[in-house]
Amino acid sequence: KIDPCTLVLFGASGNLSRIKLMPGLFRLDAAGRLPEHMVILSVGRGEVSREDWQADVKGMLDAKFKNGYDQKVFERFIARNHYHANPPNDPNAYKKLQERLADTAIYPQNLAYFLSVRPTDFAPIVEELSKVGLVDESQYWRRVLIEKPFGTDLPSAQALQAELTKHLKESQIYRIDHYLGKSALQNVMLTRFANAMFEPLWNNEHIDHVQITNNETLGVGDRTTFYDATGALRDMVQSHLLQTLALVAMEKPQDLSPESIRAEKIKLLEAIRPIPVNELSKHAFRAQYKAGRVQAGDGHGENVTGYLEELARDGVTESVTETYAALKLFIDNPRWKGVPFYVRTAKRMHEGNTAISIRFKKAPMQLVEGQHQNWLTLNIQPRECIKMEIESKIPGLDVATRTLSIDAPQRQQGDETIDSYESLMLNLMEGDPSLYLHISEVEAQWRLVDPVVKAWMADKSPVHQYPAGSRDPQESSVIFESEDQFWRYSI
Ligand code: BG6
Repeated sequence: KIDPCTLVLFGASGNLSRIKLMPGLFRLDAAGRLPEHMVILSVGRGEVSREDWQADVKGMLDAKFKNGYDQKVFERFIARNHYHANPPNDPNAYKKLQERLADTAIYPQNLAYFLSVRPTDFAPIVEELSKVGLVDESQYWRRVLIEKPFGTDLPSAQALQAELTKHLKESQIYRIDHYLGKSALQNVMLTRFANAMFEPLWNNEHIDHVQITNNETLGVGDRTTFYDATGALRDMVQSHLLQTLALVAMEKPQDLSPESIRAEKIKLLEAIRPIPVNELSKHAFRAQYKAGRVQAGDGHGENVTGYLEELARDGVTESVTETYAALKLFIDNPRWKGVPFYVRTAKRMHEGNTAISIRFKKAPMQLVEGQHQNWLTLNIQPRECIKMEIESKIPGLDVATRTLSIDAPQRQQGDETIDSYESLMLNLMEGDPSLYLHISEVEAQWRLVDPVVKAWMADKSPVHQYPAGSRDPQESSVIFESEDQFWRYSI
């Protein structure tokens, strides 16, 4: 149940809002999940009339829902939408926002702020809101959703946290990682703990290694400035992929309360062994895409330029920033002692796929030549499915086995398709932080990747290059623990 509330959306005319947030809120409204008295106050820099803003919002919905949408829901949704101009150089901007929100006939006083803005604006906005009393919780709840990235390394994350907690309690801060809103990722915990057949095998006695993969066919696009200062390790591994790892490897939470789940994730993230920088090449591999050919949406190939050429368009002539990053991690606890976790992500790969692949150890008896090890794959996207590979007898007179795949889609006809931002926005309004990050998780994640980022930034020797549209560079296999390990692709 959601209390009447006002969602104050900073950065409402930005890309995320256009593509995900507004359409997501519309779909929540259509599904009857928004309280009757819920208002969306979009905050932007420019002066825009309410009518013009509503026309803009309509354009966002038209662009997203090409097959049209329900007019009755639209009327209700558009009536929730208001706009507030917050010019950057107006010293009274936040006073005006406060005065506006004081109109209780229009704006419910429970306030959820969604900060879809530049990371450098997170703390200043919270400070301004605080100055005019807009994060005061003495009568109503006030929550602040902070977009990614939360800092760019451990010290900056801690500095941001210090700034925020001058004005907010921890319970008011919602640090988002949109991967936690993906239903296939939420399924990891359920697969593990709602079935009797997996948990007994989920340990170093039976598991050989785990691969957590996010491959994309897309390149960096027009985000060159952001990306070049960030790189694949910070962009994907520090956040989404370490969270995925935590869900795969954590111990069973006592219950499904946010506190219990977060406590287990924190314990797990803190148990990951620091990557030895003196032996970095055995534990981490980076590369950059060069020009190549990728699969276009229509199935045909498309020639694309390389990362350095994309940077050159912006006048940047050299860069060691990685568009491919692979790490080998170990978890120092009894369950996972000695099991490598390979985490990899890349732009401009031959296919886009996000998956958790688990290889089991050799069967206790090698009955026939060429018997394969079992794999269990939890595919996150684009397909949401569980696939088990088991050895099975080839029917006939000979005793020989082959691999049988049991492949089950998680999604059945008629199931709701919910975008991760939809479920996360709902959780924000409900006051359920289970799928949001605790500061200790963010800190543990930075603590782990910081030394690698530093070492990579300091090493200016040419970075390995892979052609756009290819598979993992051969050289990346140096991080494998044993020679019989290899990268898995989509299923
Ligand atoms: C974002 C990264 O956080 O996640 C992007 O900044 C990346 O670089 C994106 O493409 C991937 O998200 P998804 O949901 O498309 O897998």
